[in-house]
Amino acid sequence: MTEDHRPDIGRLAVAWYSDRARDLPWRRTKDPYAVWVSEIMLQQTTVATVAPRFAAFLLRFPNLVTMAQASEEELLEEVVGLGYYRRFRAMKKTADLLVSESLDSLPTDYRALRELPGIGDYTAGAVASIAFNEPVAAIDGNAIRVLSRLLARGGLHVSAASKRALAVDAVAMIPSGRASEFTQALFDLGATVCRPREPDCDACPVQTHCAALQQDRIDEFPQLAKRRESIPRLVAVAWIQDESHRRVLLQRRTADASRMPGFWQLPEIWLAPSDDAKSALAEMLSDLGTDSSVGEELARARHSITHHRLDCRLHAVTIGAGRLAALAAREEFEFFSIDELQAAAAPLSTISRKLWLQNMKRQTPSP
Ligand code: ADE
Repeated sequence: MTEDHRPDIGRLAVAWYSDRARDLPWRRTKDPYAVWVSEIMLQQTTVATVAPRFAAFLLRFPNLVTMAQASEEELLEEVVGLGYYRRFRAMKKTADLLVSESLDSLPTDYRALRELPGIGDYTAGAVASIAFNEPVAAIDGNAIRVLSRLLARGGLHVSAASKRALAVDAVAMIPSGRASEFTQALFDLGATVCRPREPDCDACPVQTHCAALQQDRIDEFPQLAKRRESIPRLVAVAWIQDESHRRVLLQRRTADASRMPGFWQLPEIWLAPSDDAKSALAEMLSDLGTDSSVGEELARARHSITHHRLDCRLHAVTIGAGRLAALAAREEFEFFSIDELQAAAAPLSTISRKLWLQNMKRQTPSP
């Protein structure tokens, strides 16, 4: 049997991390609550984006109890713009669940963490290792890249089974009592050295143990299954103001919507390829019992979500006073003033926020 290099890799990675750990806001604490919040925020969102939002979030919700006492809407307001909001709804559920059981802190081991809403293998591994120093792995996209290169392991998919197999190797690398540093060392290696393109192998502390480098096959890893193509789609969006032109009509997404449930949005409709934006908006409003006149295009915005690239067009829509009052009286509709939007009084969908900001820019051209 060939020699097992895994413990050497772990030792070298942790020594490197001790010297050069990035100074990140969530590294100034070992509070498991703060570590958990940071790991939820860092799912799907870059370190640079999360850093300033993390501090603000902790100021507003410094512990599990304050999070449980807040409404879901208040919590969502604090993370507006970060996307993938299901993770934050699950986070709130976890806080509610624990506090309802008279607990004021997170469970302290991987198994118990894994049972909680929104905490999968990755998050349980990250929190248990970083906050509690439990020797478990946190396998995200970065870790898959670093480990698959180190081990020249091909045939990986973004599947639970592939990740579990890599986790076994990662755990074998963890030096005794250094799980917290090892997990974070993998993050830093992936972000600063073992980058997706043009990795800096000369600067890598574990280069002598990297099977892919030795075989000159770095570019071949990770070998991941191809992503699904993203489909372009037009979205027509309505800008409906009241008579004073001080308020705009928003619609609340249903609680069971697959994206951004419970968020507010400018009324919108996704178009079929043959649809025309103006007629589609008029038809949508007609289905709600409202005659309307759909006018000029006010703004455009692009937005990508999991499988779609959206091209969003905002149109001015005029509705007679009586009809407008009837529409606004429907449960899912409400007028909001521009000041309220600016104060983030309503968590606004990302598409609506982008269009609203574009539209404001158009109205107040810079000098
Ligand atoms: N990516 C995910 N979690 C991270 C962390 N705790 N530090 C840096 N990058 C991360």
